[in-house]
Amino acid sequence: MNNEGAFPAVRLRRLRRAAWLRRLVAEVKLSVDDLIWPVFVHDKEVSEPVAALPGVMRWSIADLVQQAKEACEFGIAALALFPVVGVEDKSEDAAMAWRDDNFYHRAISAVKQAVPEMGIITDVALDPYTSHGQDGVVRDGVVENDATIALLAKMAVAQAKAGADLVAPSDMMDGRVGVIRAALDHAGYSQVGILAYSAKYASAFYGPFRAAVGSDNALKNTPMKDGKQGYQMQMANGEEALREALLDVQEGADLVMVKPAGMYQDVIYRLASSQAAPVFAYQVSGEYAMLRQAASAGAFEFFPALEEALLGIKRAGARAILTYGAKELAERWCNQSS
Ligand code: PBG
Repeated sequence: MNNEGAFPAVRLRRLRRAAWLRRLVAEVKLSVDDLIWPVFVHDKEVSEPVAALPGVMRWSIADLVQQAKEACEFGIAALALFPVVGVEDKSEDAAMAWRDDNFYHRAISAVKQAVPEMGIITDVALDPYTSHGQDGVVRDGVVENDATIALLAKMAVAQAKAGADLVAPSDMMDGRVGVIRAALDHAGYSQVGILAYSAKYASAFYGPFRAAVGSDNALKNTPMKDGKQGYQMQMANGEEALREALLDVQEGADLVMVKPAGMYQDVIYRLASSQAAPVFAYQVSGEYAMLRQAASAGAFEFFPALEEALLGIKRAGARAILTYGAKELAERWCNQSS
């Protein structure tokens, strides 16, 4: 950088003096092309609000289809779909997770059929289906890695069969990407991509999500010594995230994800700089709830704060961002431009 002719010849405020100029010098811009909308679906006729997540619903399949159509009209490129499984369908071994007649698979098919141009990203992890709420099978008080990844592979194939475009393993087991890639290819789904939650931290910010899918009670009722910390990344580590991402790409991941997003922007930056694969980031339930609740308490306005949070994540290097605010934001942008 050339420091010659510092103040008063150089005045950085000159490029801030009018909106048209600020627009031209903006380094990153947020648009609907950046957004993925995470949505919950349950096996009930009637949709219901998620108390822990203001503005978020558990949709019936019919309502989900309608929501997908609307989101598509607002320009949203893809949905990330999460199942809310009734206690009667949860079990020790998560057997419901790979059954073709599972309502989650019906929901995937229904959306794909109604809105074929929209991307569908599905969640590969056992936790919605396990009675203990862990992401894998538990043996002798430990979440077993190798037994779990075999099940995840079956789960991913069932989701691909139902119409998933990208499967997203969020379980943090070792070797799961390679096993899933091989299983998808073997079953004839070589075009289905893998969005790997490569750097998923053992975060406190998943609280509202766990309440939404009912794994909070499951986890509480069956406490484990190490629990999620035994497989999700510890929050002190950034270098390890790069290692996770490189391994996932080596095993066949098309995209890597950092989660949560806002508190881990250094990790997003590090992964994006490595150019291993495009980096997506997940603004998780707790991050979103924090903004919503602070806004309703009058601390600030919701949408400018949401946009600022997302812009920071994008500036750090995220190519796309999952946010519970995606649809509302996209609708707002549509109305502003018309
Ligand atoms: C579990 C999963 C979690 C989230 C997405 N998938 C929570 C967990 O690990 O317990 C959290 C997402 C959010 O908080 O919005 N496979």
